[in-house]
Amino acid sequence: MISDNWPGYSLDLFTYPQHYYGDLEYVLIPHGIIVDRTERLAKDIMQDIGDNDIVVLCVLKGGYKFCADLVEHIKNLSRNSERFISMKVDFVRLKSYHNDQSMQDMQIIGGDDLSKLTGKNVLIVEDIVGTGRTMKVLLNNIEKYKPKMIKVASLLVKRTSRPDGYRPDYYGFEIPDLFVVGYALDYNEHFRDLNHICVINDHGKAKYRV
Ligand code: HPA
Ligand code: MG
Repeated sequence: MISDNWPGYSLDLFTYPQHYYGDLEYVLIPHGIIVDRTERLAKDIMQDIGDNDIVVLCVLKGGYKFCADLVEHIKNLSRNSERFISMKVDFVRLKSYHNDQSMQDMQIIGGDDLSKLTGKNVLIVEDIVGTGRTMKVLLNNIEKYKPKMIKVASLLVKRTSRPDGYRPDYYGFEIPDLFVVGYALDYNEHFRDLNHICVINDHGKAKYRV
């Protein structure tokens, strides 16, 4: 858990793309820590649902880095143990953010035929759970196709004031209610090419506002 008064790491301690100089406030989670934490999540997932075939459902676009690293760690763990997990990876695409504001209606703007999930063990992989509204809509949609099991892994959970906040089965970090970018999380499609999870500053918000 990252507390509200955690000052983060100075940007000067790390490298990041030059085109983002001046657009960021600080580093909230360095890339190496993300990868190490993801390895542990992979171990927890293996322990719980190893020995099952699973369909990993990556929520694009923000989930692609976390999903790729998580699948890689699960594969490595699986290779080095008696537990065996067979994975298929699938993708859905949702969009609910415009600038840094959550929009009222979630758009499903892509994705595969969800009927393939019937009877399967499904692991949904998300970048961030904020209000949980997006996840509830997605879960409702997937449940219609009667999978055998649904688990949700999210790299981040944002601490919001909502008492009904949704909690994923697995998550990497609980973070303050800040708008973060990097490691595939975007601000109007920018910052996906930043390795660390960072807090964007007002200059960055203005520069990339649409
Ligand atoms: N950053 C990027 N995308 C998001 C966030 C965030 O903080 N919260 C929900 N989607
Ligand atoms: Mg996004």
